[in-house]
Amino acid sequence: MTGGPVGVALIGAGVISTQYLTALSTFPDVRVLAVGDLDIERARTAAREYGVPVAGDTASVLALPEVEIVVNLTIPAAHAEVATAALRAGKHVYGEKPLALAPSDGAKILAEAQSRGLRVGSAPDTFLGAGLQSAARALAAGAIGQPVSVTAVTQGPGPEGWHPSPEFLYQYGAGPLFDIGPYYLTALVSLLGPVTRVAATARQARAERVIGSGPKAGTAFTVEVPTHVSALLDFASGPSASATFSFDSSVPRRMIEITGTEGTLSLPDPNTFGGPLRIRAFGEEEWRELPVTGTTAGRGIGVLDMARSIRGGTPHRASGELAQHVLELMSTVTDCAEHHTFADLEPRAPQIPLLPADWTPETATLS
Ligand SMILES: NC(=O)c1ccc[n+]([C@@H]2O[C@H](COP(=O)([O-])OP(=O)(O)OC[C@H]3O[C@@H](n4cnc5c(N)ncnc54)[C@H](O)[C@@H]3O)[C@@H](O)[C@H]2O)c1
Repeated sequence: MTGGPVGVALIGAGVISTQYLTALSTFPDVRVLAVGDLDIERARTAAREYGVPVAGDTASVLALPEVEIVVNLTIPAAHAEVATAALRAGKHVYGEKPLALAPSDGAKILAEAQSRGLRVGSAPDTFLGAGLQSAARALAAGAIGQPVSVTAVTQGPGPEGWHPSPEFLYQYGAGPLFDIGPYYLTALVSLLGPVTRVAATARQARAERVIGSGPKAGTAFTVEVPTHVSALLDFASGPSASATFSFDSSVPRRMIEITGTEGTLSLPDPNTFGGPLRIRAFGEEEWRELPVTGTTAGRGIGVLDMARSIRGGTPHRASGELAQHVLELMSTVTDCAEHHTFADLEPRAPQIPLLPADWTPETATLS
């Protein structure tokens, strides 16, 4: 297992697994060897559909010696347990967001990995996509001068209209802040560096919601978390942000703008991999499109970057440390909203190198 493509197994064969299976099965530098799930039939169906040779329960998948990276696509409440089991089986682990429910659990995952010389990676990897990498290059080139402020909004009616099992999206570890927030916060931390100071306020519009699709349509369930969160964030590098995360609005809106001393950069939806990327300098009356170059290969490019980094002995970009800073940030926002306080935060996120301009998932680099 010292060279060549890296063996990968998925644990969790739910809604998002199809996006990973679609992308990962086209990357020559990884091999999807197995799919595991609590629901073995679901794992078998996914494996059959994507030509994956093995399906089974978590233990049988973790026992496969050729698997080097476990991609943890379970629900947030199971992230820490599955990640820890994978690490204890000697596997690197890359998980869906959030890293864990609480920062203390995230810290335990990182410590377990470090003690075993293994890696932790985490979604989202959208910040490695063409849109946000092009934004990073524009910022680095001084396109808007010195960044000063950020306005970020993600709002809409919530996911119970389309997700067939949305209960977990309204439980501890989800809600708009923990479910959608990671895209916005990871994008901003990757572009501007870590956050040092936070204030927030939060509301919950309804204590109960109703499933809108699938076999459970019409079933009511309890909302456990705030569904409208407004946060103020100070970045160690200087800028401040106002950010709104809401499942309480009838109006879907996603925007993220960084304003600098020379103008404003309008970023693409950070839950996507492409553009558009637009800029408007002071004095200009219209937005201008900036070129967007890079990969739009989809969820899984963070796994691929981790696989290549394992072989190359370099740090991977969608790292556990980055995810842990975002988790600490979301947890601090929640505390501030609950206690009506400002809070200071340890600015511990790593600085993330840009992907090389010619980085592509489609060309094999591991021999
Ligand atoms: N659905 C989306 O659009 C979407 C988008 C991006 C990220 N995500 C993230 O992906 C993760 C999964 O979301 P989903 O929508 O696919 O959920 P899902 O409920 O559709 O699927 C989760 C799967 O994990 C399995 N599972 C749960 N606990 C397990 C355990 N302890 N061991 C093994 N298997 C277990 C379940 O049986 C289920 O098949 C979440 O962290 C979510 O935030 C989802």
